[in-house]
Amino acid sequence: MRMYDIIAKKRDGGTLNREELAFAVNGYVAGDVPDYQMSALLMAIYLRGMTDAETAELTDVMAHSGDMVDLSAIAGIKADKHSTGGVGDKTTLVIAPIVAACGVKIAKMSGRGLGHTGGTIDKMEAVPGTRTSLSQAEFFRQVNEIGISVIGQSGQIAVADKKIYALRDVTATVGCIPLIASSIMSKKLAAGSDAILLDVTMGDGAFMKDLDSALELARLMVSIGTAHGRKVAALITDMDKPLGQNIGNALEVAESMAVLQGKGAADLTEVCLQLASNMLLLAGKGDLPACRAMAEGVIADGSAFEKCCQMFAAQGGDISVLRDADKFRKAKYSFALTAPKDGYIYKNDVEKIGNASVLLGAGRIKKEDAIDFAAGITMHKKLGDFVKAGDSICTFYADDKALFAPAEEMYRSGLVIRDEKPAVPPLVYARVTADGVETF
Ligand code: URA
Repeated sequence: MRMYDIIAKKRDGGTLNREELAFAVNGYVAGDVPDYQMSALLMAIYLRGMTDAETAELTDVMAHSGDMVDLSAIAGIKADKHSTGGVGDKTTLVIAPIVAACGVKIAKMSGRGLGHTGGTIDKMEAVPGTRTSLSQAEFFRQVNEIGISVIGQSGQIAVADKKIYALRDVTATVGCIPLIASSIMSKKLAAGSDAILLDVTMGDGAFMKDLDSALELARLMVSIGTAHGRKVAALITDMDKPLGQNIGNALEVAESMAVLQGKGAADLTEVCLQLASNMLLLAGKGDLPACRAMAEGVIADGSAFEKCCQMFAAQGGDISVLRDADKFRKAKYSFALTAPKDGYIYKNDVEKIGNASVLLGAGRIKKEDAIDFAAGITMHKKLGDFVKAGDSICTFYADDKALFAPAEEMYRSGLVIRDEKPAVPPLVYARVTADGVETF
């Protein structure tokens, strides 16, 4: 078999079989297939697409390129969730403790920030002392003892995805549904949970910009997971505005704790409750209304918040900052970005908001960059809100005043204020299960 022929077959619109996909992927991981040939194949896939069966084979090959975690040493149903990425997307920090407090085990691996989007592991590390890298024995023990652990993804999970993702990132082949589905599902299948809830974000801050593509991605991922014997569902959630008010690591942890303490932002609370209820449903805890009541119950009685504190404490974190957000280290400087005129916030480009927070130090511009956990943005006015000239739209936080000007330019370049009120998108557009699609 020759890589050249595999590339040519896909270039001409052919369907690759398992042997061909395994030859390309395993050869690339082993270093026998060079970057330039893998790049050519990825671009051919990007342009020609893949059949669903072909994507499922690719996912399986990628999942088996590293360790397939066996969670059977942890008793009970294990549930996982995955978001396709967003700005201000701090739902894992809320949902995982809610679900664990309802008695479903969470043995979860999460990622770091990527481009303009944030990542759970960076947010967890904003809590001083928190260890996000545990040995498998420690990870299993913690989940067996307290029902929850969230750690960084081991380098041995879906090894092919790690290498291929880095190549896609620099060859303009990220935004391709079969490649996104195989990337996400290879990691989720390898991570071993029985129930997997997918949060497919949609809007200008997400990979999927419209409902049709979000539904296509969701349907494909649900069918791949179901074919592998997992319980899988997806919610299509809005990313035309960030969730909650805050973007930035410590700011987002504080905002998540407010939700767990029953005093969180309404939009963030509602999305978290819907995601958590659907996870509980997949884990067999009852029908959707019963699962929703359970999720609301563990917020109201404080047990979800206590579960979260237990998890951070077990991983070495200083939980005094969870109980009192004022104990987080604060950025040295703040800056108020004000409205230039009266009107409604008609557009507030989410990718630009995310990029502004990266410029303030809340994310990485280069892979090796350190994150400033205190940096970020608090939004006071969001899409659809009315502002008067001079009103503060948001506050920037950074340790270096020189970062404010480029971040302001970035934020303003995505901000449109008009006399007319825009249509404000729903929080959740649809739910996709193995049985079909329900749109809201
Ligand atoms: N998240 C992933 O893990 N992979 C993709 O390809 C896109 C988003």
